[in-house]
Amino acid sequence: MLNIDEILYWLRETDPERLEKLWARADKVRAEKVGRQVHLRGLVEISNYCVRSCRYCGIACGNKSVARYRMEADEIVECAGLALEYGFGTIVMQAGEDYGLDAKDIAGIISRIKEKYGIAVTLSLGERPDGELEMWKNAGADRYLLRFETSDSQLYQAIHPDLPGRKSDRFAILRKLQSLGYETGSGVMTGIPGQSYESLARDIEMFGQMDLDMVGIGPYIPHPGTDMAKPGWTGKDIDPDAQVPRGSLMTFKAVALTRLVCPEANLPSTTAVASIDGGDGRKLALARGANVIMPNLTPEKYRRLYDIYPDKACLRNEDENSGLSVAQMLESIGRVPGTGAGGRFKSGGA
Ligand code: 5AD
Repeated sequence: MLNIDEILYWLRETDPERLEKLWARADKVRAEKVGRQVHLRGLVEISNYCVRSCRYCGIACGNKSVARYRMEADEIVECAGLALEYGFGTIVMQAGEDYGLDAKDIAGIISRIKEKYGIAVTLSLGERPDGELEMWKNAGADRYLLRFETSDSQLYQAIHPDLPGRKSDRFAILRKLQSLGYETGSGVMTGIPGQSYESLARDIEMFGQMDLDMVGIGPYIPHPGTDMAKPGWTGKDIDPDAQVPRGSLMTFKAVALTRLVCPEANLPSTTAVASIDGGDGRKLALARGANVIMPNLTPEKYRRLYDIYPDKACLRNEDENSGLSVAQMLESIGRVPGTGAGGRFKSGGA
């Protein structure tokens, strides 16, 4: 286990040779605790409507230049079939926080997928009310992903404004998800303007304390249609020396450290890390603690519209999304595609 000072030390380390030690340590723990398998989760972005106005996100409700879409139930179920066909044990349904996605309709889609294909169903639909989370669990959902984005409450408030009359408390929702029996995933972005090393170190310490099943970490990527991308914008006034830099290196460090504090968790090599700094990010994160990939299965006609940040890897490299090329990539780094759903979920799956 690592204490907060060790986490801070590694986050501030920039010497490539010394960092090799961190990579090796994370890779060893990954191999011992979760093995060689890389679990594949088919990601389907089912709607880009959102009621939120997160300062970092390109599909925030105020962005009038995005065309909005919401997938039909049959289309979503079809994508789950595709996931099974590709040998992925899980479908992840992700969307903006979209109340046009009616809770009962979502429950219906979950039961259809479970009945027809038996794969694990993961939801990532934002801060929905407890009753809906419970309804979806009862309909057969297995997992829920909700990043807390940053554990610094002042920074969080600045980047993720509350809805009128409703205080956003993602930690409370995460506890609720755990109590409902969901396998629960969270995570953060690295390099948000106003994020200090201390606060990122606390995020990582927190992952360890929260008993999370999954932790997704990606670099913050400025989106030109957002406030946060404006020069000089910051979520919190901090010493310039304390600012966590953008870029993939910081994400690799955070992933490696998270592997050390949460040895058995599922850690994705995220699309965001694959999207910047030349495209080797996907493999490098896998070599530095990660054990999950989420290939994008969103139908072509919608994919471009799920524009949370620019130049997403799944838009420029179509190959990376077919099951075959993922298997080849994994083979090239001495890993194998996961079998089954990969997680506490046991029955069914490919
Ligand atoms: N850069 C990187 N990640 C982002 N996300 C949203 N916008 C951006 C961005 N501009 C991440 C958030 C969210 C997840 C679905 O995508 O962490 O939880």
